This record gives sequence, structure tokens and C-alpha cells, in this order.
Amino acid sequence: MDVKIYDKLARRYDLATKIVSFGIEEVWRWLFIRKIKKFIKNGVMIDAASATGEMAKTGFDKIYFIEPSSEMVKIMVEKFKNAGFKEEKFEVQFQEKPYIKLKKENKEYIIIQDSAENFKIDEKADLITSFMGLRNFDNLVKGINNLTAHLKDEGYFAIVEMVKNDSLIAKLIMWYMNKIVPLIAGILLGMKEEYKLLGKSINSLNEDDILKNLKGYEIVMKEKLIFPVATLIIAKKNGRQDI
Ligand SMILES: C[S@@+](CC[C@H](N)C(=O)[O-])C[C@H]1O[C@@H](n2cnc3c(N)ncnc32)[C@H](O)[C@@H]1O
Repeated sequence: MDVKIYDKLARRYDLATKIVSFGIEEVWRWLFIRKIKKFIKNGVMIDAASATGEMAKTGFDKIYFIEPSSEMVKIMVEKFKNAGFKEEKFEVQFQEKPYIKLKKENKEYIIIQDSAENFKIDEKADLITSFMGLRNFDNLVKGINNLTAHLKDEGYFAIVEMVKNDSLIAKLIMWYMNKIVPLIAGILLGMKEEYKLLGKSINSLNEDDILKNLKGYEIVMKEKLIFPVATLIIAKKNGRQDI
């Protein structure tokens, strides 16, 4: 996905998402975090395609946020600083990409401006999350493989994604996303064309596209969230893969 669209959207992203989804996205996130906590409560987390960093709501102590849009990164940093986080100097340079380390009490957030396909850090996570992120990867296979390489054996990969679905309600939701949302976005944000593209991207992934790339994982949870266009998958890395 062209990150320029997200650069343009960044400042109004949280509000716009709440409006066009009638708050459903927040319900999905809440459910997502509740389900994750059934398997893992805390540890090192990597959040891929973080946008404005809303997945910090898991409450994990150490989170790496991977987000290629420089404007989204700016908003994320502002948001965390407003919540009392302070920027710290990094002692170790992982890579040439911009990164920012923020701390508040026992919480440590590291924001890396890079793609899921290319980021590189020197530690492995207990949990990887991607909430509505996978369909934005330019190369799904490369993105999932790079994330998997940064996950500990027995660690969890938790995904919520909009996927194609043939039910009537799903078709109605897609019609709303493709026809009505761009109109609302045009009026409120002057971003009709951008939202048309975002709508199209929702139809770009099948559940099977995701599952077939989770090689070396055991699927420990898979369910449709309320409104069947969103699928939740939690997979456990079995540590016997060769990618
Ligand atoms: C729909 S938003 C994700 C929402 C977010 N995960 C949340 O919790 O609210 C999609 C994000 O994917 C990012 N993105 C685009 N290409 C990407 C890539 N190759 N790797 C990782 N993130 C990417 C965009 O910049 C955008 O911020």
C-alpha cells in the first residue's frame, strides 16, 4: 500500500476510523486484545503496521511499533508523549531507519519507521500483532516471514484482518466501504479517492492467503468477529520451521 495515503491521513486517522466504522473497529480491537490475553499476558511485543499505535492498549511492557509512514510515526510519538512517555537516547543502533525510544515507568516503546518486510531488530518477541495491517504489506510472504524470524519459538502471531466473504451482510458492508465511506471521507477530509483505494484493498485478501503463509504455526484460534468481514487468527510458532 502506498504509504503516502497514510501520510496524508495520519493526523485525522483515529477520528476518521471511529466515524466511518461507527466505532466497530474499537469493539474489534477490544475483542482482539481480550482473546490474545487468553494465551499471553505480557512480554515483548512487535506490532506491525502500527498506524497511530493503538495496539499499545495490550498493556505489554515492551513494544516495538513498526510503521513506514513518517506522518503516522509523528502522531504516534505525540500521542505517547502526551500520555507521559519521555524520549530516551538509544545506545544500540539496529539499523539505518529512523527509530525512537520512549519510556514511562516500566513501559518501553520503540518506534521504527520501516516496513514489515524490511525491519530488523536484535531481539525476538513473545507476541506479534497486526490489526488490519497485513493487507497493506507490499509483499505478504516477505512480511510474514520477516515477522516470523523475529518471533520466539512458542510465541504467538495474532492477526485481525478484513477478508473477502460472500455472505449478504459482508456484501452490504463492502458496498458501504466502497461507495459510502469515500463520500463521507470526501466531505469530511477531502480524501474521496484515497478512501476508494483503501476500500479496494479490503477486497484484496482471502483468509486462505493468510493461513497458507503461516507455515510452521499451529492455529490456536480462528474466528469471525461480529460482522463477518473481519477475521481473527491467533497462531503459535512451533519452532520447527525452516524459513
Ligand atoms: C489500517 S492501518 C493499520 C491500523 C493499526 N494497526 C491499528 O492498530 O489501528 C494500516 C497501516 O499499515 C501501514 N503500512 C503500509 N505499508 C506497510 C508495510 N509494508 N509494512 C508495515 N506497515 C505498512 C500504513 O502506513 C498504515 O499506517
